[in-house]
Parts: sequence; C-alpha cells; structure tokens
Amino acid sequence: MNVESGGGLLLPLVLVHGGAGNVPSERRELHVEGCRAAARAGYQRLSEGGSALDAVQAAVKVLEDLPQFNAGTGAALNAEGQVSHDASLMRGSDLAAGAVGALMSFRNPIEVARAVLEEGRHVLYVGPGARAFAIERGFTEVEAEALVTEEARAALAKFRADGGSGGWAGGTVGAVAVDATGQLAAGTSTGGTLGKRVGRLGDSPIIGAGTLADDSSCAVSCTGDGEAILKLGLSQVAASYLRAGESAEQAARLAVTRLQERLQGASGLILVTPQGRFAWARSTATMSFAVVGAGGEQAGI
Ligand code: GLY
Repeated sequence: MNVESGGGLLLPLVLVHGGAGNVPSERRELHVEGCRAAARAGYQRLSEGGSALDAVQAAVKVLEDLPQFNAGTGAALNAEGQVSHDASLMRGSDLAAGAVGALMSFRNPIEVARAVLEEGRHVLYVGPGARAFAIERGFTEVEAEALVTEEARAALAKFRADGGSGGWAGGTVGAVAVDATGQLAAGTSTGGTLGKRVGRLGDSPIIGAGTLADDSSCAVSCTGDGEAILKLGLSQVAASYLRAGESAEQAARLAVTRLQERLQGASGLILVTPQGRFAWARSTATMSFAVVGAGGEQAGI
C-alpha cells in the first residue's frame, strides 16, 4: 500500500491520473508527462472561465488521445481484438451525470459522455444505443482500426499466448477538478480489461463506482480492478469516509485499503474536496498523476 497526498495549492485545481498498474521504469516519464499535459489543459480551461466539468473533460480528452494510456486511442483490446470504450462524467453541483459503455468507434468517449450529461434524459447509454446517440449528436465515427495501436495488438497477442491470464490492463484515465467557487466535477475513461469478453462493462462508466462528483463531499475518479470496484462502489466508499469526518488523504487511503482487504482488489483513486483538499492513493506499484492549481503544480508516478 502506498498513499501519497498533498495540499496547499489554491483553488481552482485539476488533478488527473493515468491508471493504477505497474508501468515499466523506462516508460514512467512518458506517463507522467502525459498526465502533466492533461492537467495543464484542464487548468487552462478553468483559467479561461470554464467550469470544473469543462476542465475535467479537457483533461480526459488529452489522456484519451495519448496512446500510452488505456483509453481512447491505444485502449486495451477485448477478446475479439476490438476497442470497446467506457467513460463517464459527473458535475457536483446538481449531480448531473452522463456515461457511455461499449462504444467502439469514437475517438473521445468522454465527449460523448458530456453530450449524454447535457441531454439529461438518461445517464448511461451502451453499445448500439450509445453509437446511435453519438451519431445523432454529430460526433464523427472513425474506423475502429484507427483507434488500435501496435502496442495494444501486441498486448492482446501476449495475453492469448499466456492462456488469457491477467486481464487487467491498467492505464484507465481520469480527472477531478474544483473551480474557484468550490464546484466539483469528475470523469473517467477506459478501454477496460485486456481480453475482456464482448459486452463486459467495468466500473468506469458507473456513477458511484468509477466516478463521483458531489459538492457535499468530493469528486473521485477510480482505476483498477473494475469488478471489485463495482462490487464495493469505491467512489461512494471514499465519499462516505469524508462525510464521516476523515481527511482527504485518509478517505483515499481507507477506500483503497478496504477494496484490497475485502475483495483483494488492486486499485487507485484521486479525490478533491470543495475546499481544494486533494489526495491520491494506490495499492499498485504505480499510478501516474499530475495536479495543476493556482498555487503551482506537481506530478509523479
Ligand atoms: N477500472 C477499469 C475497468 O476495470 O474497466
């Protein structure tokens, strides 16, 4: 268990993660740099007068576009060699939420999730319904192959050669933000587990599991063992620790520890409160992160 946390950056701020896992040492800087670029892009939106939700969306889009992460372009492939994206977004002021699951041919699922949130009729669209919604909303469909990288193909080939063991790809991405008035947002995006069965959804598109934003407690984005995170509702667990009076650091640490102890689940999460207290925790070897706020920036893995 490794828990790191920080504080002292002034509002507003954006905190991002590039997934809990075990990034080889020679690739760690690439992941940190990607997180730094994403957090800066999110903070730029806040500086331009954008909302916390705008900042989260902008940050996650950067991470989706970077092939080193398991989201958007370069996402982990399913058992049939296809990209199948899950993503969600939530706003803390009114609990507005939007999510998509098993979306296969759009570069930025987080943008489709934003459109679901703005429409406000439903929270989660999956598969063909999610695709129809995205097309109706004017998103450009791309050849699914355009989202597949050589690295993702090689990872699936190794997974198959190893007999389908160890399907957790790591590298899910996410962001949380708080604006200058204390309003929160959170978002998460992933390709899910390597070699997953067609139709499998993990925690990332599920509000209260992979993503949560509630101005009465905190904004959270989770990464890790999706089945375990779903069973526990990990984001809500972290928020409940905060509501019970724990600090941001303790809430993050206790939630990740509970997943490990109760379900032997590996995970990581990032968290921010309306006051700008933030923390990250992981039970894995690595989780890249970056935070950019009015008081400066930090990044690491
Ligand atoms: N945590 C991402 C997934 O399991 O799909």
